[in-house]
Amino acid sequence: MKVKFEVCWRLVVNKVLRMGMVGGGRDAFIGAVHRTAACMDHRARLVAGALSSTPEKSKASGRDLGLDDRRNYERWEDMLEGELLLGEDERIDFVCIVTPNHAHYPVAKAFASAGINVICDKPLVHTSEQARELVQIVKKTGVVFAVTYNYSGYPMVKHAREMVSSGAIGDVRKVIVEYNQGWLASALEKSGQKQADWRTDPARSGLGGAIGDIGSHAEQLVSYITGLSLESICADLTTFVPGRRLDDDANVLLRFKARNGIEARGVLIASQIEVGHENDLRIRVFGTKGTLEWHQEDPNVLMHRPDGGPEQFFRRGNGYLCDAAKRATRLPPGHPEAFFEAFANVYRNAYDAIEARPLGKADVGGIGLHGGYDYPDVFDGARGVHFIERVVESSRSDRKWTPASFPL
Ligand SMILES: NC(=O)c1ccc[n+]([C@@H]2O[C@H](COP(=O)([O-])OP(=O)(O)OC[C@H]3O[C@@H](n4cnc5c(N)ncnc54)[C@H](O)[C@@H]3O)[C@@H](O)[C@H]2O)c1
Repeated sequence: MKVKFEVCWRLVVNKVLRMGMVGGGRDAFIGAVHRTAACMDHRARLVAGALSSTPEKSKASGRDLGLDDRRNYERWEDMLEGELLLGEDERIDFVCIVTPNHAHYPVAKAFASAGINVICDKPLVHTSEQARELVQIVKKTGVVFAVTYNYSGYPMVKHAREMVSSGAIGDVRKVIVEYNQGWLASALEKSGQKQADWRTDPARSGLGGAIGDIGSHAEQLVSYITGLSLESICADLTTFVPGRRLDDDANVLLRFKARNGIEARGVLIASQIEVGHENDLRIRVFGTKGTLEWHQEDPNVLMHRPDGGPEQFFRRGNGYLCDAAKRATRLPPGHPEAFFEAFANVYRNAYDAIEARPLGKADVGGIGLHGGYDYPDVFDGARGVHFIERVVESSRSDRKWTPASFPL
């Protein structure tokens, strides 16, 4: 019903959202993915940017993308000022933040405070204090604030979530989530590789190395699929590469709050020294009646092992999948969809909320409920930051278990 209403509204107004971007300039990694995903459904176009850390590179990056010179800004502060001088029918509808982690907080705070919707990459910010501040700003201004935990955008992840919530695998007893990478198995940062350089620098990356960069994705995937809340954790962080200042390998035991009388257990692995592994994110959810398994490198398939029955393979694009999975699908089965499309699904659902906002329908004050829209929001981002902090605390402590319940 809601979807139908929004489709009608778009047809009447024929609005294409105006996007501004901070970060994502020449030689950047994820900015180009965001630009592709954000415009995939022709619901947005890039009209402004402050794309790099130096004025010269920002301008050159904007010219590469054909930005109008007046809106090709040298610095994000100029972009905010310049856009606020424009009329509401010209100003950006949202800003996308794809800088290294340390710049998320000032940029997100400034744009959200000015009433501009935000789509920010993870991990949200460096500290829980900063995250709490952003949550308060979102509550006060009512802006839509999405955090691109893109793995929850995959159709088969959405189907896994539906199977857990409908009870298809019974009550969840255990979750094993792994994000295995090998690209930081040697001191790549010393070669000048810029993505490795900032990710291994505490001032720009934050408290966590592997646990922040990819462990935060794993934490969100568990939360999204199972709906379970963490109670406590027991973490062991290691830095294997000599001279590196942040962890490059994380092994965490998880205890969840009781649901239906069961206190589920879990294991989370986030590693960047596992030679030969690329983006090997995988999750297994063990219930009282069955098991689910999904691999990011084979994302169009969800495995189901029901108790006492043969294995089943659910495949993207088929009519037997849940509505959320169908809605997150663009191509017929057999034509693979993957990383770009999953990102685009986060955008698509955030756009629904942004477009509903002027009509007073977005209910964005419902933090944690995503205002009824299926996208990771500032609350998920804040929970991720809290998780990273608790993991680091646990690893540094002699105590066996560290409370990890999210307070918001
Ligand atoms: N969701 C995902 O799957 C995913 C994947 C990769 C990266 N990320 C996240 O995206 C962000 C960017 O990562 P990346 O690998 O693309 O980094 P990157 O180093 O490749 O790119 C960062 C860009 O930000 C620019 N920048 C730095 N400071 C800036 C400032 N003050 N103003 C404007 N631009 C500035 C840099 O010049 C560069 O163009 C990080 O937060 C990272 O954790 C998320």
